[in-house]
Amino acid sequence: MAAHQRFPDGSLGARRAGAAPPAAPPATIPAPPGSRVVRLLVNATEHEVLVRPQEILLDVLREDLRLVGTRRGCDMGTCGCCTVEIDGRPALSCLTLAVEAAGRKIRTVEGLRDGGCLHPIQRCFETAGAAQCGFCTSGFLVTIASLLDRNPNPSEAEWREEISGNLCRCTGYVKILDAAQEAARMVRERRTESRRANAASGT
Ligand code: FES
Ligand code: FES
Repeated sequence: MAAHQRFPDGSLGARRAGAAPPAAPPATIPAPPGSRVVRLLVNATEHEVLVRPQEILLDVLREDLRLVGTRRGCDMGTCGCCTVEIDGRPALSCLTLAVEAAGRKIRTVEGLRDGGCLHPIQRCFETAGAAQCGFCTSGFLVTIASLLDRNPNPSEAEWREEISGNLCRCTGYVKILDAAQEAARMVRERRTESRRANAASGT
């Protein structure tokens, strides 16, 4: 289990500005009022993190766990850049308190890879040219991967509904939808192959 400590002497700001945290913080520094240690299961790894009651999951992921693939856009629930998956459903990490996420299964864009292999939607984004500035990309990837896990054959209307909370200022969405359709085809193909392999081996 990985352990992370937030230092209550203002060092969060210093760390955001690029300064390294103190190498050996005194054990006597008191925790911020109301803070408590929560266990977060992120990308199949359990972390213990000291969080304040009002702290949002987005900050904990980026600042404490250094999972900076999850982006901060609007910080108010309208752009979808900060999307992560919680218990199998897309969720806005800027609107989720870290304490609410304790004990739940969290997947970020860093967790989409399967071992050394990119998720089909990551590969298809690249081949379709579905990312331009890339700021929205992590949110789209998580949203689409999450839908594919639940439904590998969504209709056009289901795709549009699913990504309606993710805003992109660059692409016009056409290439994103093309990438999503192609990734769905790959996921279905993989499932068919794996069923065939299982049938052949009698498992
Ligand atoms: S940063 Fe969360 S929705 Fe925009
Ligand atoms: S690629 Fe730039 S905002 Fe989507």
